[in-house]
Amino acid sequence: MKIAILPGDGIGPEIVTQAVKVLNALDEKFELETAPVGGAGYEASGHPLPDATLKLAKDADAVLFGAVGDWKYDTLDRPLRPEQAILGLRKNLGLFGNLRPAILYPELANASTLKPEIVSGLDILIVRELTGDIYFGQPRGVRECPDGPFKGQREGFDTMRYAEGEIRRIAHVAFQAAQKRDKRLTSVDKANVLETFQFWKDIVTDVHKEYPDVALDHMYVDNAAMQLVRAPKKFDVIVTGNMFGDILSDAAAMLTGSIGMLPSASLDANNKGLYEPSHGSAPDIAGKGIANPLATILSAAMMLRFSLNKVEQADRIENAVKKVLAQGLRTADIYEEGTTKVGTEEMGNAVVKALA
Ligand code: IPM
Ligand code: MG
Repeated sequence: MKIAILPGDGIGPEIVTQAVKVLNALDEKFELETAPVGGAGYEASGHPLPDATLKLAKDADAVLFGAVGDWKYDTLDRPLRPEQAILGLRKNLGLFGNLRPAILYPELANASTLKPEIVSGLDILIVRELTGDIYFGQPRGVRECPDGPFKGQREGFDTMRYAEGEIRRIAHVAFQAAQKRDKRLTSVDKANVLETFQFWKDIVTDVHKEYPDVALDHMYVDNAAMQLVRAPKKFDVIVTGNMFGDILSDAAAMLTGSIGMLPSASLDANNKGLYEPSHGSAPDIAGKGIANPLATILSAAMMLRFSLNKVEQADRIENAVKKVLAQGLRTADIYEEGTTKVGTEEMGNAVVKALA
């Protein structure tokens, strides 16, 4: 089992180090190979996604990714910015199915900014389409405005589009995920305004015929944002497009108190995947040893479960994380009075110890 390790920027290297430590403690034969990506890729070879890094990711059975981005790269031309690395990996590896679970561990009920009764026991899954939509649609750019009251001025434009097959395949991922859970799927769209998402809604409704055991409903994205903070536990699985999924998954993550807790998986058609924490590179706390490594450690667990077929080892890691939380260990982002504040490395060591 070959795993590409792409730590990236900011807190990426620190948290990935802890996840690698946990993987190495499992007594499995993994071949781990590390390569620079994001700002680190740019520093190393002038591009956020160096050819060698992309090749390594393609050749590996799975990719463990930290985070990319730093303010100091904000002035680079867009194709050279760190974010292009993750977008390039998603596109080049065909990772269209993004699973973002939002689970609230009972020990962290007070870490949420929402009242405990609203969020305690929360367990929802956002299935975000990851390689289409306005993120990748062509044409895009800045041009001379061709019509309307601002005709002749410069205008920025992007293109929102979804092909039928693109919608079908993510709908299948979502229905199948729902079948393994509470069998309820909410498809989030903006069919009241956008042609693309009326089409999305129609296709998801058609795919539903193959999954009569799953209850499907449809919700506009603005309402979905509201329901996520009003009554998040009413959701089971949410499926949506790339742009709406980006926004809703951050909101869902925060329901759990800290985005530092949430893993994610980005899968291709054969369940090969890239695994990364749902949070970013947090350059403001990089190098301080205080970042929460649990989202990355839990991403490694997802990798074992979905891509490497090591379900028992995935369970072991997830149970170890529950155990350290029950022991009262907390990084700064989830700390509350009466618990024990620990740093990145101490948290990683505690998880390793709890594996036993
Ligand atoms: C995410 C991030 C990325 C996205 C950025 C870094 C390009 O926000 O994974 O949610 O917008 O998809
Ligand atoms: Mg995002």
